[in-house]
Amino acid sequence: MAIRYEEEHRIFHLQTPKTSYIIGIMEGRYLLHLYYGKKIQSYPDFMRHLPIRKGRSWECEDVSHPDYCLGTLSTEYPCYGSGDFRSPAFHAEYEDGSAVTCLTYAGYELYRGKKPLKGLPATYVEKAQEAETLEILLRDELQGLEVVLSYTVFADFDAIIKSVRVKNAGKHSVRIKRILSSTAYVFDKDFEFVHLEGAWARERHIQKMPLINGTMSIDSKRVSSSHYHSPFLAIARPSATETQGDVYGYSLVYSGNFLAEAEVDSKDVARIQMGINPFGFQWLLEKGEEFQAPEVVLTYSANGFGEMSRTYHKLYRTRLCRGNFRDAERPVLINNWEATYFQFNEEKILDIARLAKSAGVELMVLDDGWFGKRNIDNCSLGDWFPNREKLPEGITGLANKIVDIGMQFGLWFEPEMVSEDSDLFRAHPDWCIHIKGREKTTSRNQLVLDLTRQDVRDYIVKAVSDILESAPISYVKWDMNRNITEIGSAKLPTERQQELPHRYILGIYEVLERITTAFPNVLFEGCSGGGGRFDAGMLYYYPQYWTSDDTDAIERLYIQHGTSMVMPASTMGAHVSAVPNHQVKRTTSLKTRGNVASVGQFGYELDLNTLSEDEIQTVKAQIQRYKEIREVIHQGQMYRLRSPFEGNDTAWEYVSEQKDEVVLMHCTIQAGVQRGLSQVKLEGLDPEATYREIDTGETYRGDFLMHVGLYFSNDRDYESQLMVFRKIKTVK
Ligand code: DGJ
Repeated sequence: MAIRYEEEHRIFHLQTPKTSYIIGIMEGRYLLHLYYGKKIQSYPDFMRHLPIRKGRSWECEDVSHPDYCLGTLSTEYPCYGSGDFRSPAFHAEYEDGSAVTCLTYAGYELYRGKKPLKGLPATYVEKAQEAETLEILLRDELQGLEVVLSYTVFADFDAIIKSVRVKNAGKHSVRIKRILSSTAYVFDKDFEFVHLEGAWARERHIQKMPLINGTMSIDSKRVSSSHYHSPFLAIARPSATETQGDVYGYSLVYSGNFLAEAEVDSKDVARIQMGINPFGFQWLLEKGEEFQAPEVVLTYSANGFGEMSRTYHKLYRTRLCRGNFRDAERPVLINNWEATYFQFNEEKILDIARLAKSAGVELMVLDDGWFGKRNIDNCSLGDWFPNREKLPEGITGLANKIVDIGMQFGLWFEPEMVSEDSDLFRAHPDWCIHIKGREKTTSRNQLVLDLTRQDVRDYIVKAVSDILESAPISYVKWDMNRNITEIGSAKLPTERQQELPHRYILGIYEVLERITTAFPNVLFEGCSGGGGRFDAGMLYYYPQYWTSDDTDAIERLYIQHGTSMVMPASTMGAHVSAVPNHQVKRTTSLKTRGNVASVGQFGYELDLNTLSEDEIQTVKAQIQRYKEIREVIHQGQMYRLRSPFEGNDTAWEYVSEQKDEVVLMHCTIQAGVQRGLSQVKLEGLDPEATYREIDTGETYRGDFLMHVGLYFSNDRDYESQLMVFRKIKTVK
């Protein structure tokens, strides 16, 4: 059993292939987090081996054990009000006006498999034997509150999946103010807080800072996980690298306001918490009702960041992403956005498509501007009707012509939004999020639809479905281009207005669930001004995501490197665009743009008609090569061999499960004269196998590639290589 309760020691022991997570029941009352790390077989008498000190002056004596106090114990699900003055996981107000909760142990249940989380995205099992779940019941006897802590362990993944559900089993309503999904600890502070910081077109740059006594946190208050901080945190030894050192990962499967924090107390114990951001959150829980908080996926790697990421990649690729496209080869696409922006007509799109088809592109995507009177970004969102001036035969006519050319057709939508200049807004001014009597702040000239309302959700589902049913559409790019202000709903009662941020996220999840279920043969790609809501929650609905609006190959080294901390290559949309690049005006070679995009969901975002004949030949060769390697890019193991954040070049490697196919992408950032060579040692190969590099025919043994490696000179700015190795034989 991967999870067992040891009555003799009063502990729950959760074991993954390489890790152990141990929770003790202290004095029959409190759940304590005792250990998370390398796999161990037992944890004897935990009161003699507590990882924390006894209490001293100024700490409150605990009612169950005078030597200890809640203020220093590593409580598995801490509350406020009985001696623990650190940030709690749970905080609520009760009918009697008090705001103190005291949760004590009340029992457990253990079962095979994993249940879905009501209304929320979550990792899942295909067969019950894949995982075991432990549910621990905690109770506040005075208020009649029941909290269930859920832990799932998959047989094949070094991950612990945690979530929390609360039931009001008392006599009165309860106002939840804070309900985090996970609390865990490290028992010294010699760690770094590692997170992914960004902005529009600069998503997920890796930042590291040492833990200090006090609280460090990242969050979002934008009702979207956002470009600015990802709902991911790693707590890592300062000496941890890609291949060695302790790294703990915490990834929240949620797309709205979140909080991730590390609080180091006076004993240098760090409490790490994650969940829905308590800022701007409230939930009125009526008698008998339940509230489900999202799940957090914890990983521990003794072998650095690389192993942590590979755990996330495989778990998310195979047991978070869903649907027909989860394991399928995805088409090479061409998107007209950077080619035409709003200035296109049917002939222009067909022109782009014809040449793209002849180069080997499989899917033509029509981006923003095809509906209403949208020739600029200040109108028509919400009016999902084709613009007949641009597309005389509508989407149906265009899609059929694209299919006749021999390509699939894809379409852009931004269904969560409404423009003030739209028929939808004129008909339903109260459908947007707003506060009566207060000016509405716009962003990109648009407002956000109130997805807490059933009528609004139904409208979106119908509007999108009508278009998808009207034409042979194989792909949807689902965009979302602003954050939410003036949080208020015309429909929600006063006492539930502060529930809007979380209800909005539940609303978008419901809409996506309905549409993706109704159109299982449509490939959905998420987008939010690039990678603004590229989080684990969204992967449940979209198997791929537009990583960033920055398409410059060098900027993409940083963005794709940071994104790969959690997200697998199979999810990362990456396109070749024109030069000078539209975001940074940099000119890089077509080869380098192709190489950097080839290690994601490959596509083009330019008008191929503007390229020379030689360049078209290069495009054909890139597409041909990509089709040969896409399986290993999507399903293989990724190794980050050199980081753009730490040096002047980047190298990423992808190795098939069988270790018989290997792709290496190396890119120089700034060239230097007379500098040393970069030694790039490959990883994860069969040391005894011989690999042939398919372009040069040169052969290497796996041990040579892993221990000696390849040398790169870095003497040309932005120069890059994409090398493919195939195993030809194994000699023992
Ligand atoms: C933002 C997206 O990230 C872009 O790719 C493009 O679709 C525009 N929106 C269209 O408005």
